[in-house]
Amino acid sequence: QPLDIDPSKLSIQKTSSPKPLLASKDLVFGRNFTDHMLTIEWTSTHGWSSPQIVPYQNLSLDPATCVFHYAFECFEGMKAYKDSKGQIRLFRPDKNMERFNKSAARIALPTFNPSAMIELIAKFAKLESRFIPEEKGYSLYLRPTMIGTQKTLGVGPPGSALLYVIASPVGPYYPTGFKAVSLEATDYAVRAWPGGVGDKKLGANYAPCIVPQIKAMSRGFQQNLWLFGEEEYVTEVGTMNFFVAIVNRETGQKELLTAPLDGTILEGVTRDSVLSLARERLEPEGWKILERKYTMKEVAEASEEGRLIEAFGAGTAAIVSPVRAISWKGKLVNCGLKETEESGEITMKMKNWMEARQYGDEEHEWSYVC
Ligand code: COI
Repeated sequence: QPLDIDPSKLSIQKTSSPKPLLASKDLVFGRNFTDHMLTIEWTSTHGWSSPQIVPYQNLSLDPATCVFHYAFECFEGMKAYKDSKGQIRLFRPDKNMERFNKSAARIALPTFNPSAMIELIAKFAKLESRFIPEEKGYSLYLRPTMIGTQKTLGVGPPGSALLYVIASPVGPYYPTGFKAVSLEATDYAVRAWPGGVGDKKLGANYAPCIVPQIKAMSRGFQQNLWLFGEEEYVTEVGTMNFFVAIVNRETGQKELLTAPLDGTILEGVTRDSVLSLARERLEPEGWKILERKYTMKEVAEASEEGRLIEAFGAGTAAIVSPVRAISWKGKLVNCGLKETEESGEITMKMKNWMEARQYGDEEHEWSYVC
């Protein structure tokens, strides 16, 4: 019987050369890392070996290692926050570990006991506590990663793997801060498709999105709005889930829409949190919260008829990201913001509601005290 991850076997080797801390304002997303990393090796015969926290260091891998050839890689994005008492908190880590296991299983990498992994990540985050800024909007971005490490060009299930977690102190995701972005509706490239792996957090889903993003940027748009199919269903924005608030033409009711989890949409933890908060706090105010397919045409018509209230992206890195406009078929679809505004009301409320639970200002079961 191969072994599962055992947190009681954790060994810690502390660095002898602690890194200097950067001023929060100098943090660029994902560029600076803490003193240590958490690593756990796996083989198909032995299972998971003892977890280790070691000084942050290079990996040494044979050039034939399967991750380099066939993209045996999946990852997670999650954050640790410092609360007003100096305690370290993870946000819904159970959701990340559940998804991590689903991603791993899809590419023949090993799965693990999620609560064991949460315990280890909590220990790791606590050890790196000095790197976690206290200011609102700042946190420690955690990057659990799993790679196939078998040295072979043969195409098959990896016989060995490495799970590691690195950590990066971060501020606002976009260098411009909390500002509305403009999108290019993208139909010539497809991010995800039915029966594909767009709902999994595989590294291989991200690289092919960069050239379309560069093209959008060259035309003055920060991100792609990924459309799907002849119907031009709206799916995601950049690396985030997408929400749009509209007034229903027939009923006059306010609706918050996002695409359903049909296999082409990433099961975002922020997406799930936004939906849950909306059902709890917007529904009683008369809003309808809908996970359904909707088209770019619907969004454009809502805009033209003055029924588009606002739109935003939702993801762990940026939390929410307000949207100003969408370029589509040579037109600019306005997303409800006045020229002087950087965010709509619902987007702003969501940001505040999320942060209250992330930083522990509102005690809630989503927050996991390390
Ligand atoms: C997110 O959290 O929105 C992401 O997926 C971005 C990450 C790949 C940096």
